[in-house]
Amino acid sequence: MRIIENSQEMAQACREACRPLGLVPTMGALHEGHLTLVRRARQENQRLAVSIFVNPTQFSQGEDLSRYPRDLERDLALLRQEGVDLVYAPSSKEIYPPGFDTWVDPGALADRLEGAARPGHFRGVATVVTKLFNLVRPDRAYFGQKDGQQVLVIQRLVLDLNLGVEVVVVPTVREPDGLALSTRNSYLTPEQRKAAPVIFRALSQALVLHRHGMAGGEELRSVVRRILELEPLVEQIEYVSLADCGTLEELDVIAGRAMLSVAVRLGQTRLIDNLILY
Ligand code: PAJ
Repeated sequence: MRIIENSQEMAQACREACRPLGLVPTMGALHEGHLTLVRRARQENQRLAVSIFVNPTQFSQGEDLSRYPRDLERDLALLRQEGVDLVYAPSSKEIYPPGFDTWVDPGALADRLEGAARPGHFRGVATVVTKLFNLVRPDRAYFGQKDGQQVLVIQRLVLDLNLGVEVVVVPTVREPDGLALSTRNSYLTPEQRKAAPVIFRALSQALVLHRHGMAGGEELRSVVRRILELEPLVEQIEYVSLADCGTLEELDVIAGRAMLSVAVRLGQTRLIDNLILY
């Protein structure tokens, strides 16, 4: 496994790599969710590149950039076990050198939900993902359904800018009690951790009711809300959304693929999750 910090060196290594070449972009602090993407990508490609970069431009001011966990040695050991060929682990200066001033600004899809709560978040994501795609020029790139809006923004980006990368979406990996794996779960106190599966329970209850014929957007959103409200450790419900997968516009009635998604706060920790209804 080659570990590369320099962008020119990475681009060169990728040009020389056998094809198809897969890419899994990450911010490190790897868990089974990330490793599931890596395994899928390993199966489907001749060569596999993983990037580890805690992208400062996708964190808003006051967000958890400085306390975001970093453990490169541990991450590298995990990736070595998975048979990864290339790891790109650049510094911030390598990605954003002095004078850097060009941005990829996604449109309406990025203004809703996470974008409304975290202004500029998807501009940072779209910019860094475009840079990674340009450096690596992967045939396929792997993203988790866990970050459902991110997937939609990246699919739009790839189409709109003709990036020519196949975006592979991998289902959300969960703990046995349903909590979606996330780096931020490690911030939870033991009591909050015990309460957190309420998120998946609430989403699942709406999914079941939808399968039994409930199709009204408001009805389904209030099912989720009511279950979340029963958990006192859920201090704030930032949003409960049932939105069209193409536009992320809130739905009155489900027709086609819809994303049911929530963002809640347990103490200081903000957790997101979603299920696709169709
Ligand atoms: P990060 O949060 O490190 O996640 C890297 C990838 O792992 C993302 O595609 C994310 O959706 C996926 N992932 C995380 N938890 C998952 C889970 N429980 N199940 C399935 N997939 C999961 O997302 C980012 O980094 C960044 O925004 C990035 C795309 C790297 C751009 O900076």
